[in-house]
Amino acid sequence: MLLVLNGPNLNRLGLREPGVYGALTLEDLERQCETWGAELGDSVTCRQSNFEGQLLEWVQEAQEQGFGGIIINPGALTHYSYALRDAIAGQQLPVVEVHISNVDAREEFRHKSVTASVCKGKISGMGFLGYRFAMEYLTESQG
Ligand code: DQA
Repeated sequence: MLLVLNGPNLNRLGLREPGVYGALTLEDLERQCETWGAELGDSVTCRQSNFEGQLLEWVQEAQEQGFGGIIINPGALTHYSYALRDAIAGQQLPVVEVHISNVDAREEFRHKSVTASVCKGKISGMGFLGYRFAMEYLTESQG
């Protein structure tokens, strides 16, 4: 059972900078993740919030809710949220960080991730497919 978390502004996919993030919506992304989960034989729960504290609580509670891994796109929180970093570090589940755009090819402030070092790894610049790669990793490593 995998948990897919999307952070601030990702509810605006499709409307927000389509040249960077594409024309598809959050709903499209979440349906896609559910389909990929079914293909991989795992169930997927998708959640999005614009609120840092809500994301922290979802990360903190994921294990007791029965999830086996977390895929997270923290949006801009990636670049400065030590609270999210500590929430990830303070729990046991494997976490994969995903970015739709190639953060390393963009503004300088996006080159730094304070969360990636407490994740299993980071996938960036592969569009929605990055979520699939993260799901493959988590389902295979769960055995
Ligand atoms: C993002 C990249 C972040 O820098 C940005 O703040 C986002 C989206 C991505 O998916 O490419 O909100 O995480």
